[in-house]
Amino acid sequence: MASSSFQASWLALVLVAALGTALAPLRAEAARAFFIFGDSLVDNGNNNYLATTARADSPPYGIDYPTHRPTGRFSNGFNIPDFISQEIGSEPTLPYLSPELRGQRLLVGANFASAGIGILNDTGVQFINVIRMYQQLEYFRQYQQRVSALIGPGRTRKLVNQALVLITVGGNDFVNNYFLVPYSARSRQYSLPNYVRFVISEFKKQLMRLHDLGARRVLVTGTGPLGCVPAELAMRGRNGQCVAELQQAASLYNPQLLQMVKDLNKKYKSQVFIAANTQLMHNNFIANPRAYGFITAKVACCGQGPYNGIGLCTVASTLCPNRDQYAFWDPFHPSQKANRLIVQQIMSGSTQYMDPMNVSTIMALDSRL
Ligand SMILES: *[C@@H]1O[C@H](CO)[C@@H](O)[C@H](O)[C@H]1NC(C)=O
Ligand SMILES: *[C@@H]1O[C@H](CO)[C@@H](O)[C@H](O)[C@H]1NC(C)=O
Repeated sequence: MASSSFQASWLALVLVAALGTALAPLRAEAARAFFIFGDSLVDNGNNNYLATTARADSPPYGIDYPTHRPTGRFSNGFNIPDFISQEIGSEPTLPYLSPELRGQRLLVGANFASAGIGILNDTGVQFINVIRMYQQLEYFRQYQQRVSALIGPGRTRKLVNQALVLITVGGNDFVNNYFLVPYSARSRQYSLPNYVRFVISEFKKQLMRLHDLGARRVLVTGTGPLGCVPAELAMRGRNGQCVAELQQAASLYNPQLLQMVKDLNKKYKSQVFIAANTQLMHNNFIANPRAYGFITAKVACCGQGPYNGIGLCTVASTLCPNRDQYAFWDPFHPSQKANRLIVQQIMSGSTQYMDPMNVSTIMALDSRL
């Protein structure tokens, strides 16, 4: 008796385990898939797998991540995609190049971003081996073939159509291209206003390609206040003033991006693209750091020299004790705390921040379909 009830419960366990496996794909599909494209602001480790100098895989990067180890994120902890995954109730996405991204894990989505890249192919050439935008989009196509082999083309299309997509790119086209050196090739070829128009027109093609590939809800971030990051304050600022030419670039670029996004939505007769005003979000920190719990939005937590803005963040750098008090983690990238605040605005900000609507509204709308 004792032995047969043991066997019965053992059988029940096997059944539960078998059912659990059978149900796993359904569960994974219940949460919305999430895809990420862009640069170091959203890369969560692709560059770890590449021979490039643009990397964040050594300490003190990741010091506040749950593992307290570097992951490839350009943050002391979580980055913007991590907080978005948490908000939409999904597992964190894996980098597309991660060998762990296979089987059911594919259904969570994927992160294609690569630090150092821009909209243009000639942006970030100094980082050598990075995944440029056209390649990220090609990987997205490849990804869909892999998922098709797993769940079939119909369900794959549905998964992609219903997914949330984030694309964060463009800052490097100024910082690591046009303004990288005096008399850069692009600055000899174009005046700043004409360069901005060119970059926007190339970006438009990439967003249309994303739509062709099935994306239907795409968050498009603008650039931050490029001239106010600690690296620029240290290298080119005068008396802590933001660098005028980079600020001018951002103020030309962001409104044209918003207009382009609106034009695309009109073309597709649907609110596919959602513009996130990251410039305004960041400007708020800069204008009034204390309102957000920061002691400074000028000095990086990790770095060296004025504003901790010179060179890279390494084990040899000055490191602040409390990372949450700094808007900038390293000379270019927001701290985990700033990333969390940015995602709060993405989720529930007014139309000033999120045009035409925030992600809470998107989630509510799409759940009714
Ligand atoms: C970037 O390079 C790829 C591959 O050579 C090419 O197909 C693509 O058109 C280029 N994009 C731009 C914007 O020049
Ligand atoms: C943004 O989200 C909040 C809920 O989180 C909502 O109350 C608000 O109306 C939304 N704003 C817009 C402009 O969609």
